[in-house]
Amino acid sequence: MEFQKKTLLKTVDLTKRFGGLVVMNKLNMQVTEGEVHGLLGPNGAGKSTFFNLVTGVLKPTSGKIWYDDVMDITNAKPHKVAKLGIGRTFQLNPLFGDFTVEENIMAAQFLHPHSTVLQVYFNTPTYRKNEKEAQKSTNDIMEMLNMTAIKDVKAAALPHGYQKLLGVARALAVKPKLLMLDEPLGGMNPEEIHFTLDAINTMNKEIGITILIVEHNMQVLDICDNVTVISFGEKIFDGTAEEVRDDKTVNEVYFGGVEYD
Ligand SMILES: Nc1ncnc2c1ncn2[C@@H]1O[C@H](COP(=O)(O)OP(=O)(O)OP(=O)(O)O)[C@@H](O)[C@H]1O
Ligand SMILES: [Mg+2]
Repeated sequence: MEFQKKTLLKTVDLTKRFGGLVVMNKLNMQVTEGEVHGLLGPNGAGKSTFFNLVTGVLKPTSGKIWYDDVMDITNAKPHKVAKLGIGRTFQLNPLFGDFTVEENIMAAQFLHPHSTVLQVYFNTPTYRKNEKEAQKSTNDIMEMLNMTAIKDVKAAALPHGYQKLLGVARALAVKPKLLMLDEPLGGMNPEEIHFTLDAINTMNKEIGITILIVEHNMQVLDICDNVTVISFGEKIFDGTAEEVRDDKTVNEVYFGGVEYD
């Protein structure tokens, strides 16, 4: 007997208005545990807004957000959402420029409240153990993302591609079940794109992290199982990565009818 996979994220009639402007209109979408799910759409479609609604940065006007089948996270605060296992990157990457690569990833681990203030203050065995674990996890993340050799470089001095990758590394520090990536390939050169797609695939296939990825670069379809396409805050397509390539509405709305490989 095959077990039904969990729906890790589900939105029901999710709606967001800014004043009179409707930027998300009754969006129903779901991400199944274990998949790489693409969220595509032209500029201004509402992709980043969707991320902000799910992670508690913005409050929905109406509708519901469910996590892990049964948890209502509709109005949950960002730290609560992170604690539940949703990690994210931002389209514009907020890094600590004066911190090194290693320090940035270490700092992100402590957004996850392993230790209480008292444990830190008294330098208790629990705190020391947590710090040791954080260092190990930082080392693992740097290893996986090929950042060990540049661990002492300050974030501000990194090439753009590596700054984006450091955003992914920081999101991984909360040990997410669901990792939401907002245009991780933006501004990367072909080599960096290839490496990043590979790394995302590894996170999904080998570590078992479910991925929701927003991208403009169509190479992302190579690693997506399913895809949702939105335009002006409304869903115009839901299906597999293969189906989306041939979908007429998507081609017209999103690609202006231009054929692509
Ligand atoms: N704080 C805000 N106040 C008013 N309008 C906003 C606000 N944030 C976003 N919008 C509007 O909501 C719409 C969706 O924006 P959003 O950033 O979610 O699009 P996007 O799909 O991520 O686009 P891009 O591909 O350019 O990143 C746009 O019309 C944008 O101008
Ligand atoms: Mg965006």
